[in-house]
Amino acid sequence: MAVDILIGLQWGDEGKGKIVDVLAPTYDIVARFQGGPNAGHTLEFEGTKHVLHQIPSGIFHPHIQNIIGNGVVLDPIVFRIEMQKLQDRGVDASQNLFISKKTSLILPSHKMLDRVSEEALGTGKIGSTLKGIGPTYQDKIGRVGLRVGDILADDFQDRYNKLVDRHRKTVEFYGQSLDLGEQEQIFFEAVEYLRTLKLVDSEYMINDALKNGKRVLAEGAQGSLLDVDFGTYPFVTSSTTLVAGACTGLGVAPRHIGEVYGIFKAYCTRVGSGPFPTELLDEVGDQIRKSGNEFGSTTGRPRRCGWVDLPTLKYSIMLNGVTQLNMMKADVLTEFDTIKVCTHYKLASGEITDRLPHSLDTETMEPIYEELLGWKVDLNQIDTVEALPEAFNNYMTFLEQHLEVPITIASVGPDRKSTLRREKVSI
Ligand code: IMP
Ligand code: MG
Repeated sequence: MAVDILIGLQWGDEGKGKIVDVLAPTYDIVARFQGGPNAGHTLEFEGTKHVLHQIPSGIFHPHIQNIIGNGVVLDPIVFRIEMQKLQDRGVDASQNLFISKKTSLILPSHKMLDRVSEEALGTGKIGSTLKGIGPTYQDKIGRVGLRVGDILADDFQDRYNKLVDRHRKTVEFYGQSLDLGEQEQIFFEAVEYLRTLKLVDSEYMINDALKNGKRVLAEGAQGSLLDVDFGTYPFVTSSTTLVAGACTGLGVAPRHIGEVYGIFKAYCTRVGSGPFPTELLDEVGDQIRKSGNEFGSTTGRPRRCGWVDLPTLKYSIMLNGVTQLNMMKADVLTEFDTIKVCTHYKLASGEITDRLPHSLDTETMEPIYEELLGWKVDLNQIDTVEALPEAFNNYMTFLEQHLEVPITIASVGPDRKSTLRREKVSI
């Protein structure tokens, strides 16, 4: 069997958690392959909202094996709290959760490094979630990081001390001192807890599963425009958020990739700094933020809001080889008489293009919009595709024609039942 991959096509927060939850029942394994506690995947069912940060979204289905892959950066402290929260809601994740021994560990000092590095950037700051993501990936690539498998070694404490010493020097370089307080003790308690769980060689587990005809879903975090290579650098996260990241983040060969689900919102949001060509700084943006409850599920920060942007979506679709599109949160746009869609940009030189310039952060990019009629119907009450209003179908057809990939799921409300499946037609 193949590995299907679910990817965010914008700047994260597209609603990936919801789609994994809907698709999960047909899979045997759900695996996370990059990112860490910077992610916040929201799932809502039976009237309760669940936010997952590091644990894969298949965890609510006992028959699914959930894997935290080697490409992830794992914070044991956050992880322990997450497991406890699940336990409090009657979900025992300890049996169907597997963690790769090659997963990188986020130390308390990584979070401190994240903070001092952001402070030093001043107005040029990335707007990081300050969860220690960047510094942990730096240590991984710098070949000095610690991994989950290391906690099983007798000299783990020594290795930890050595790495923290390096961090201390870096923090001092920034003119601050490394004071971790009680965080170290909490970290070691969380590591103790981690030792009791299923720590595995997940690359073998996944490849064995594929050989045995099992279905695997890889769950992306963040979004394609936050990818370290192709995103709006330097305002990106530190991992490969694209489909390619699933190969290295799980140990899956490219030829095993099957369907690629590209998730996007019917509009667009971004948290943190960096370019956002269709951002709305007016009351329309405020209205989207309010109706869509666009506040970060990890940091609580208000999200920047804007119209949907086709050049960036085309770019993400190209880089990921998307085979199916899933459009989320269309109900948020219900109030508008007309809805704008950015099809091209006008650059400072006067050139009109639907391609992204290299210097997205300094280039003047004026979005060129087409305006479509709104649907003005409360989509929350709709539970079949046949009942969707014509103006809404026209909006989807317009996007499909530009993006050249079919929209197979339209989500029109937060609940599981508001997830409408459309036939996969060729475009
Ligand atoms: P970091 O990954 O915490 O270092 O943050 C880098 C950038 O990515 C910042 O702009 C964050 O706001 C953004 N970011 C990181 N994770 C997410 C996410 O899961 N959703 C949306 N934005 C994110
Ligand atoms: Mg999120």
